[in-house]
Parts: sequence; C-alpha cells; structure tokens
Amino acid sequence: MDMKGKFDALERMTAQALLGGGADRIAAQHKKGKLTARERVHLLLDEGSFQEIGQLVTHRSTNFGLDKQTFLGDGVVTGYGTIDGRLVYVFSQDFTVLGGSLAEAHAEKMCRIMDLAMQNGAPVIGLNDSGGARIQEGVVSLAGYADIFHRNVRSSGVVPQISAIMGPCAGGAVYSPALTDFVLMVEHTSYMFVTGPNVVKTVTHEEVTAEELGGAATHATKSGVAHFTAPNELEAIRQLRRLVGYLPANCEEEPPALPYEPGDEGRPALDAIIPENPNQPYDIREVLNAVIDPDSSMEVHADYARNMVIGFARIAGQVVGCVANQPAVLAGVLDIDASIKAARFVRFCDAFNIPLVVFVDVPGFLPGTEQEWRGIIDHGAKLLYAFSEATVPRITVITRKAYGGAYDVMNSKHIGCDMNYAWPSAEIAVMGAKGAAEIIFKNDIAKAADPQAKWKEKERDYQEQFANPYEAAARGFVDEVIRPEETRIKLIQALRMLRNKVDKLPRKKHGNIPL
Ligand code: HXC
Repeated sequence: MDMKGKFDALERMTAQALLGGGADRIAAQHKKGKLTARERVHLLLDEGSFQEIGQLVTHRSTNFGLDKQTFLGDGVVTGYGTIDGRLVYVFSQDFTVLGGSLAEAHAEKMCRIMDLAMQNGAPVIGLNDSGGARIQEGVVSLAGYADIFHRNVRSSGVVPQISAIMGPCAGGAVYSPALTDFVLMVEHTSYMFVTGPNVVKTVTHEEVTAEELGGAATHATKSGVAHFTAPNELEAIRQLRRLVGYLPANCEEEPPALPYEPGDEGRPALDAIIPENPNQPYDIREVLNAVIDPDSSMEVHADYARNMVIGFARIAGQVVGCVANQPAVLAGVLDIDASIKAARFVRFCDAFNIPLVVFVDVPGFLPGTEQEWRGIIDHGAKLLYAFSEATVPRITVITRKAYGGAYDVMNSKHIGCDMNYAWPSAEIAVMGAKGAAEIIFKNDIAKAADPQAKWKEKERDYQEQFANPYEAAARGFVDEVIRPEETRIKLIQALRMLRNKVDKLPRKKHGNIPL
C-alpha cells in the first residue's frame, strides 16, 4: 500500500471510531434526550482541547458473537483536555456501543486515564452511561470493575474525582461513582441502583419504577448519593465545569483564586437578620450570600438534609467551603443525615486545601428513638471527627444558638477552629434556658405558689446569664464578638491571616473515623 493508501486507511478507521455504534444507535440515543459520549466530551472540555487516547482499542473476546461485533474504542471515549485552561482527564461511556457495557479493554482504557491523572496530578471526570458488566465477557468484566474501584480508592484525596451519571448505572457499577468525590445525576434520563426494579419485585415484592428506585430526584433527596442534579445534559455539563473551577488539580495545590478588588465590605442588612424571638427561623442562605463574593456559590447536596447547608464559594476571590446550620429547616438541628453530609464535605475540603467557614445556629442533636436506634452517636461523631482532623484554615461564626454537644461539634475552638467569632445574638450554653431552668430549679419550681411564674423567672435568670456570647468570650472560647455587618470583612482578614497556616496530624497509618 502506498502512503496515500495508508493515510486513507487511517482516515477510514478514525471515521469509524467516531461513529461509535453507528448512525441508528446515535439517533436512538438522541431520541432519548441524551447526547453521545463524544458530544458530551466536546461540550465538557474547552473547544478543541480534547486529546483522545486509545481510540483504536478493541475487545479481544470471541464469546457469544462478539467476534462479529467489534467497535473501535470498545465503548468508552478516553483522554484529556482542559476546562478553563486547566488539565483534566475524562472518560465517557458510549451507550451506542454494546450499551456502553464494561469489559476488559473498556476497563483498561479507564484505568489508564486514572493512572495518568494520578501521575500528573489532575482531576478525573467520568461520564457514565452503561448497561453494566458486559455479559458476554464474563468474569473479566468483574475484574475490570475491581481494577477501577481499586484506583478510585488509591486516588481518593490525591486528585478530585467527579462522576456524572447520564444513563443507566446499575449493579456493582454504582460503586465507582460512589467512591468518587461528587456524583451528579441528570434528571429523568439517569438512574443508579444496586439491584433494579425486577429483582426488587422478586425479593421484596415491592413495585417500584427505575425512576422512583434510583432516579436523580431519589438520590438527591432520599439517599444523598447524588450531590448535584441537572434538568438536562447541557446543564449537567455546565455544572461540571463550574465545579472544577473551585477545585485544585491535586492535594498539593491550592484551589484557584480569582482576582479581588477591595470594595465596601460592610453588610448592614445582616444587623437586622436575627429575629427578636429566638425561636423564629431565618434563612442562613441570606447570611451566606451576604458574606461571600456575589454569585460565587455552588451549593452541594442542596435538597438533602436541608437542615444543614454546605457548598463552595469565594471570599475575596479565595475558594472556601461553607458549612452552616439552617435554622429555617427543623430549627437547624443536627441529625444523622446532616452530620454525614457535612462530615464528608469537611473531609473533602480538608483533603484539597479548601479553608472552612462555618456558621452555627444549632439547638442540639435531634432527639428520638429513630435517630438513636439508627446510630446518631456514631454518625454525629463523624462530623466531630471530620472537623477535629481538618488542618485547613477553619473559621466559625456563631450567629445564634450553640447548644450542648452540637456547640462542640460545630467547629468549636476546642476541636481546632482557628478563629471563632460570635454575633451579639449568640447563645452559647449547655442547653436552652427553658429546659435548663426546669432541671436545675426543679425543686424551687415545684414548691412555688405559682410554678409557671417561677419557671418563667428562672428561665429568664438562666437566659440572662448564659444566652449570650460573653461567658464564652471571657474564657477565650470566642475570639471576638462582632456586629453581623462586620462579618464579611472579618472573614476576609482572618482568611488572609491564616493563608500560610501549617498544622500537621500526628504520624499514623490512617485514623479510624466511626463509619
Ligand atoms: C452487553 C449490553 C448490556 C450488557 C446493554 N447491552 N447492556 N450488552 N452487556 N450489560 C446492549 C444491548 O444488547 C443492546 O444491544 C444495547 O446495549 C442497548 O440496550 P437496550 O436494551 O436496547 O437499551 P435500553 O432499552 O435503553 O435498556 C438499557 C438497559 C438494558 C436497561 C441497560 O440494556 C439492560 O437491562 N441491560 C442489562 C443490564 C445488566 O443486567 N447488566 C449487567 C449487570 S451486572 P444492541 O446490539 O441491540 O444495540 C453488573 C455487575 C457489575 O453490572 C459488578 C461490578 C462489581
């Protein structure tokens, strides 16, 4: 063959690879409201930046007719490119090729991307759309999954790993996304479950649709498996690009800062945000939005455990991780789901050098048999553990209630917060005044001519003595009592002061978080 013939042959193979499972299957993919694997990659990465690796890889199996069905690329598009000029590695499963099913060669391609990401210190973004283990290839598919899981775990805390679910993700396949840092699901066209509706029906006799069992809404609200959801793939990809913008490339780097023009940092509206009645709610998001740079936030787990608000934001251009009790939902109480949600986020931020800014308005842990029997002791301890081991700059602002064990847990001075601010409305005490008065003045109240009036009086006494930040400030547990309007400027200054913080954990193999 002459050189022109050789070039033509290459061109033909490239064209074939680009077609994946062929025009009909691409049309079927589009008809479902889904993009193809390649379309997704090109939208995700900066224009023209994608460099493909392994385009001509094929499977080696001849089982069950596979010898007659060979597709270049083996059902996954892999490579690297940039997002806003920053290197990322990507794999994108191609549902048009054997249902995006994973087998030996497909898994090898994914592993190669993960190895390169580790060696070169850059995030991995996986676009998942797969019918699971390629049934024809048998046990090598299982081996391929396990090779990926192993790498997910080895990469955890070294490079950010992000999973987008853009189609089916079932069986053991769910465990790779679960091991990554963030899961984003597309509404109505994606689902994740360990066992599907048919198996569920056989085993438990429950009738449930795939959407109810493991659609985006389910995982965003009920299970917490999905950190983000998007109404369609374009929006999903936009969110992935935005998320990457908050993250350092690896654990040795700082998150990317944006330029910051100092301006008027006073936020007078905050002085009026705390209601006169301490039992009245307010939306902590209003506080967060006032102190961060305008439009700089990306909430994580927005619809799960809404009594806790977590997310990324920027303060004076610097990326921070915000963790805040939400008094507008269940009075901001700490329960199992909120503790787990915040703990995982705190650990992510700590692993990737993202300072933590914590807002506290918490009446305590949620009482009840449901919580106790499900193990709030262990789950609450996760948050305590996560904050205690975090070595990144950590700043706390107590806006109102900080009661009991929840005060200690919510990034208190005692577990290593660097700067603890309190608003004049802060109430830092063992418990609320009403309950406290009932317990410690039980006899006085019982003996009183008017027990109710006595109770009220004792409640007022307790309130006056403890429902303020000054007892804690006198002991140095609170570094400064500040006017709410000063919060943003105080955070800017403290973050700047803490920028070069060095704090090391004692040498150990690894700790043992109460899982
Ligand atoms: C091989 C598969 C496949 C698979 C789909 N296909 N899944 N080929 N192995 N696992 C092929 C189909 O044969 C079909 O080929 C094409 O992909 C599209 O599939 P359809 O069924 O036409 O698409 P759709 O109706 O959208 O349904 C998608 C689906 C369904 C729900 C994913 O295909 C399905 O249920 N697949 C099997 C899922 C499964 O049981 N996987 C194994 C799970 S066990 P043609 O040629 O017609 O286009 C597992 C264990 C992992 O994953 C363990 C890890 C530890």
